[in-house]
Amino acid sequence: MDRILIRGGNRLSGRLPISGAKNAALTLMPCALLTDEPLVLRNLPRLADVDGFGHLLNQLGASTRVEGARPGEFGRVMTIRVGALTSTEAPYDIVRKMRASILVLGPVLARAGEARVSLPGGCAIGNRPIDLHLKALEAIGAELEMSAGYVTARAPGGRLAGGRYSFPVVSVGATENVLMAAVTARGSSRIENAAREPEIVDLCRCLVAMGASIDGIGTETLEIEGRERLHGATYAVMPDRIEAGSYACAAAITGGSLDLAGASADDMAATLVALREAGVTVEAYKGGVKVSADGPLRPLTLSTAPFPGFATDMQAQFMAMLALADGASVLTETIFENRYMHVPELARMGADIHVSGRTAVVRGVAGLTGAPVMATDLRASMSLILAGLAATGETQVSRVYHLDRGYERLEEKLSAVGADIERVGDG
Ligand code: EPZ
Repeated sequence: MDRILIRGGNRLSGRLPISGAKNAALTLMPCALLTDEPLVLRNLPRLADVDGFGHLLNQLGASTRVEGARPGEFGRVMTIRVGALTSTEAPYDIVRKMRASILVLGPVLARAGEARVSLPGGCAIGNRPIDLHLKALEAIGAELEMSAGYVTARAPGGRLAGGRYSFPVVSVGATENVLMAAVTARGSSRIENAAREPEIVDLCRCLVAMGASIDGIGTETLEIEGRERLHGATYAVMPDRIEAGSYACAAAITGGSLDLAGASADDMAATLVALREAGVTVEAYKGGVKVSADGPLRPLTLSTAPFPGFATDMQAQFMAMLALADGASVLTETIFENRYMHVPELARMGADIHVSGRTAVVRGVAGLTGAPVMATDLRASMSLILAGLAATGETQVSRVYHLDRGYERLEEKLSAVGADIERVGDG
């Protein structure tokens, strides 16, 4: 397994290109299941999870073609065409490795009138149930049964009816699944308390480009008129707001200055507000965001929340940054039940963090020291990279396959702005 070595202490400076959003790509790719025409996705990030989802689509009968970035663009272009489904099943050995596979349930059900998907099971940050996905699909006409760790879904008469569902709690994935199922239902559908994350907006815009009828895009109430069929489209994946926020924290923690090229300030407003409150200078411009820090960071009190609140996917990165703030910060994780796996690893580098239930108190220390640490989940591993960038001495992060799921060419991007970082294989 690869490891990443960082010799900390360098101030980062320069232009850092932001890739297409992982969490948008993983919900845009299954849209191709909704038509027999090609869906061309541009600005697709080069990530393990994107490749994994491509393999899953191939298993279902999709042909996929990937070409390099077009001139002036960073991401790849993937053409996905599902002329006909050759399977309606997402098997356990794929789903257990990539939870986002559950996002084929809605579109396969809509396309074929049936779908059989392995229950994804939990992961490091929580048990990750899918009950809301299932309840929302039932509300628009799906008949479901669970057996042997799989959920089997059927649409009576081969086509979903449409209907109304009000989410008791906000769920990004469940909103995505029911949206993709509803756009070709026989009737109309109304989704209340829908997730409003920018990735949901990206999904709605892609579906509309494919001929879907969706009103209320960006709000918590979505009205969908079912269409007989959708057609192909070409769509560019939005920039990754979490990658951009992560590298903004890298500028802050190293006292550097980064130009996050391609970042969308609107998508990361809560992150930018928090950075400014911490004393970081943030300048949004058309086409990117500049972030610089030249003094001690101020402590913060932050609670994660669904969009437009402070993103849970930014919690671990801010914790690393606030470990060096001038005072005590209080972070509360309200979305996932076990998203503090980075705490013991940061503590090994000298951070002073105390967790009680969902709340972590982070007392700023004068400095961190490099150490061998272990990545446990995607965003936790980024918090260790950030700590290593600021620490004195060498930090060795193991199990970096977690990182490769969500950060495209991390060492290349960080080296280009002055980090002393390299990837070493175990051979
Ligand atoms: C998406 O996960 C993202 N993943 C996550 O990003 C992100 O942290 C999360 O949304 C919240 O923003 C992708 O988009 C691929 P949820 P998802 O359904 O859809 C509970 C990363 O680091 N819940 O909004 O799984 C759930 O347990 C990843 O990039 C149910 O109870 O998140 C959680 O407590 C990590 N029943 C809360 O809702 C359900 O049926 C929010 O989950 C579904 C969810």
